[in-house]
Amino acid sequence: MLKIGVLVSGGGTNLQAIVDKIRDGYLKDCVISTVVSSRAGVYALERADKNGIPSACIPRKSFSSIEEYDAALIRHFDSYGVKLVVMAGFLSILGTGFVKHYENRIINIHPALIPSFCGKGFYGIIPHQKALEYGVKVTGATVHFVDLEADTGPIILQKAVCVKEDDTPEVLQKRVMEEAEWEILPEAVRLFAEGRLVVKGRRVIIQK
Ligand code: GRF
Repeated sequence: MLKIGVLVSGGGTNLQAIVDKIRDGYLKDCVISTVVSSRAGVYALERADKNGIPSACIPRKSFSSIEEYDAALIRHFDSYGVKLVVMAGFLSILGTGFVKHYENRIINIHPALIPSFCGKGFYGIIPHQKALEYGVKVTGATVHFVDLEADTGPIILQKAVCVKEDDTPEVLQKRVMEEAEWEILPEAVRLFAEGRLVVKGRRVIIQK
């Protein structure tokens, strides 16, 4: 049984997508052991409660250094025996200690086709605003392993989504979630759970 820890900061629709895929049997031998939010009062925490998943709020500002924050997150996840960490809309920065502790065992969902519209500052609605400002016809979502920089880790899966002429950032954000994020995040978890992801340098080889 793969024990998953999910990091959230907001609405938790990506968390919900994983919960649903465990429930409907698409994700086998997986359990979400704990959900950690960087913010109090977010709906993702309510989703955890509704689904009987133990949760905690561990805000960055409660710690004076990133090292202490990393250590608190590691303590929490290790106490639940977490073997895969999923960043599902998590807005705090993780430090070197955390990333090294779970090397190639942390995955993140980004709402754009990396290396476009990503990196520092590209979170929430911003990747969609920038995609519309640039005038791209296609955007999408990316699931990748987390390394020491923002959105630079080896790419696991990507899915393209068409941009429409009358899109607003909010409309585009919703379509990217529905058509890409909620599909490729559980798919990446499944590939990980099946032991089919092999990282070779920058590339992730998906074994048959
Ligand atoms: C998603 O768009 C995700 O790609 C981004 O933050 C958003 C989180 O949404 N990193 P939710 O909390 O899963 O609803």
